[in-house]
Amino acid sequence: MLRVVICKNPDEVGYQASRQVIESMQRTLAKSDRYVLGLPTGETPLPLYGYLIAAFYAGEIDFSAVHTFNLDEYVGLPPNHAQSYRYFMMRNLFDFVNIPVHQTHMPNGLTRDVNQECARYERLIESLGIDLWVLGIGRNEHIAFNEPGSSRESKTRKVKLTLDTIEANARFFESHDQVPTEALSVGISTVLDNSKEIVLMATGLSKAQAIAIALLGPVSGWIPASYLREHEHCTFYLDKLAASNCEQVIGEGVCPEYLEVVYAE
Ligand code: PGA
Repeated sequence: MLRVVICKNPDEVGYQASRQVIESMQRTLAKSDRYVLGLPTGETPLPLYGYLIAAFYAGEIDFSAVHTFNLDEYVGLPPNHAQSYRYFMMRNLFDFVNIPVHQTHMPNGLTRDVNQECARYERLIESLGIDLWVLGIGRNEHIAFNEPGSSRESKTRKVKLTLDTIEANARFFESHDQVPTEALSVGISTVLDNSKEIVLMATGLSKAQAIAIALLGPVSGWIPASYLREHEHCTFYLDKLAASNCEQVIGEGVCPEYLEVVYAE
């Protein structure tokens, strides 16, 4: 059963998702000496990261035993490049909490041996396991950089970005041709088969079609996010705009039985 939480705006999406992450961290760390969190980059997770930082300063959570795995990294950008995902994570989360830097894992986009680096990352994820994986979604349905056509069994590997993704990411670069065209990305299997819980966040009208198809279309590699319906413990946090193409169906009592829809207070 996939749970869908419809929120009034992007800030509420971040807040509601943060409550799930914080409770999962607290519950796990009460009985384990490690908590493993999978993390996305992009615009959507920024409110979530703000709420996690606030919870850290309020003494609600402690990151000293937290390990993180990011979904992906561009090929060819050094970690100190302003658009690298390592830099993004430092600037938006890691610099503000007490997480030891050696516990923050990312694929190395500068590696000389791509196959070895991808195998290393996949093995590390398999050996630690992910307590909760947070995801965004592309307007073309990608999760991580698993673009349409990705296999359910895909693992960490080098991927080519689609034109749509390059165009969407160009807003962070000075010009279109500066956007890297390749990335190292975890696969769909890496996410689905190693995580106890999954949280996907989507906000804004540009995601409305992707969300409607992911929730109501066929489960297929052409719709990578549709595979999340196969996970046992997955929650989508959507704002009103991201839910707007499917809310009439899923919010009106004619909802498919594999979905549970709730409205955030
Ligand atoms: P965004 O990216 O949060 O910047 O929209 C999400 C994604 O492409 O997965």
